[in-house]
Amino acid sequence: GLKWTDIGALTEDLKDQKVLIRGRAQTIRAVGKNIAFLVVRQMGFTVQCVLTVAPDLVSRHMVKYATGLSRESHVDIEGIISVPGVPIKGATQQVEVQVRKLYGISKAENLPINIEDAARSESEIEKALQAGEQLVRVNQDTRLNYRVLDLRTPANQAIFRVQCQVENIFRQFLLSEGFVGIHTPKLIGGSSEGGSAVFRLDYKGQPACLAQSPQLHKQMAICGDFGRVFEIGPVFRAEDSFTHRHLCEFTGLDVEMEIKEHYFEVMDIVDRLFVAMFDSLNENCKKELEAIERQYPFEPLKYLRKTLRLPFQEGVQMLKEVGMEVDPYGDLNTEAERKLGQLVLEKYGTEFYILHRYPLAVRPFYTMPSYDDPLYSNSFDVFIRGEEIISGAQRVHVPDFLEKRAEACGIDVKTISTYIDSFRYGAPPHGGFGVGLERVVMLFCALNNIRKTSLFPRDPTRIAP
Ligand code: 4AD
Repeated sequence: GLKWTDIGALTEDLKDQKVLIRGRAQTIRAVGKNIAFLVVRQMGFTVQCVLTVAPDLVSRHMVKYATGLSRESHVDIEGIISVPGVPIKGATQQVEVQVRKLYGISKAENLPINIEDAARSESEIEKALQAGEQLVRVNQDTRLNYRVLDLRTPANQAIFRVQCQVENIFRQFLLSEGFVGIHTPKLIGGSSEGGSAVFRLDYKGQPACLAQSPQLHKQMAICGDFGRVFEIGPVFRAEDSFTHRHLCEFTGLDVEMEIKEHYFEVMDIVDRLFVAMFDSLNENCKKELEAIERQYPFEPLKYLRKTLRLPFQEGVQMLKEVGMEVDPYGDLNTEAERKLGQLVLEKYGTEFYILHRYPLAVRPFYTMPSYDDPLYSNSFDVFIRGEEIISGAQRVHVPDFLEKRAEACGIDVKTISTYIDSFRYGAPPHGGFGVGLERVVMLFCALNNIRKTSLFPRDPTRIAP
């Protein structure tokens, strides 16, 4: 018989045709005893369904049943598509379904949050409150407590489709450049990025921890002759700080590759990968970006065809010129990063850029010092709208020197001896970078909190739902 149609696909082209849909009853409204309106939602798209009592349409009993449904219950509806002469408010689709049959499929209990309210933008909320409407602002914690409800809003539906596309482009691009996808262990014997922010655990009586990054094993894959590798996988950080951009578990997009001559080869990959990614998001995720924009207004990201590469020292100089105190051999704090983001936008017209040749002292032990000045390093960070999304570098591939660097950074070399030994059987020059997936989506869409781009976020105080 009749084929299922997605609510998002209900358009005027289907006028007078019979369709079968499944969705949730978002709102239910009776007009007298003979007419009822149901707004039915599926994956962020909504359509108005009309029940009208008539001998060849639906019974009064059916209208009564429909108006007794609870919000967010699933219904299957068979009906005919009609096109009203006036715009339909409160639904994404500009057609109506004239209901012939209706079946209840699931029943929702009393809702702790109202999906329509959760989907409103700040300015819509302000307006509604001024107009004296009864409305509860749904705060972040409540949203996360009832995440399965919160996820039903059009903006959230879109955010995770955009996230999927970021991952997809990352994979497609790297495959086309000769990289191979790998999976490194997440249970490891020692910390991979230095001691503090690590989750410790008991591994059958041996001390172990959750990997803070695939760093050590992705380099070991280079020692295993894979040449160019990438990984998409979970990263665990026992963060102490409760900020808008730190999670205790996030998804890392990691790259590691042989270097022929210069660490700029790694930055070339960053450059072309991200320009391809942003182009693809703007081109292939228009609907999703609009849905996000409707709830969380933002300006499209400004980026150049060829990504700006700013030497760290020049960045320091730019900050000094506007009167900011910065240590040329220290790291930039969040405020300095933001400020530099603004200055770069003014001077170069881009909100996406690479800052490279960082002071060695602020980089992890495995980072290669600059050949001409060991106070600096062959390393870089990448920023979107003044916030870090990537850090990367050339690595030390000479085992004795690597051991010395680890010791100098206060690392217990015993815990990483198998890593250091990997370089004793010949290792090529190599480098790579790590990207935080949630940060990319957050900053591309100028969202204010990384919890918005993590499906079920883990932060210092949250491990449920
Ligand atoms: O800067 P990080 O710590 O670098 C590394 O893990 C290196 N192994 C990367 C490399 O290949 N050299 O982390 C990389 C990225 C950051 O730029 C940020 O986007 C993200 O991971 N990130 C976090 N995202 C969410 N919550 C956190 N707590 C994060 N910590 C880092």
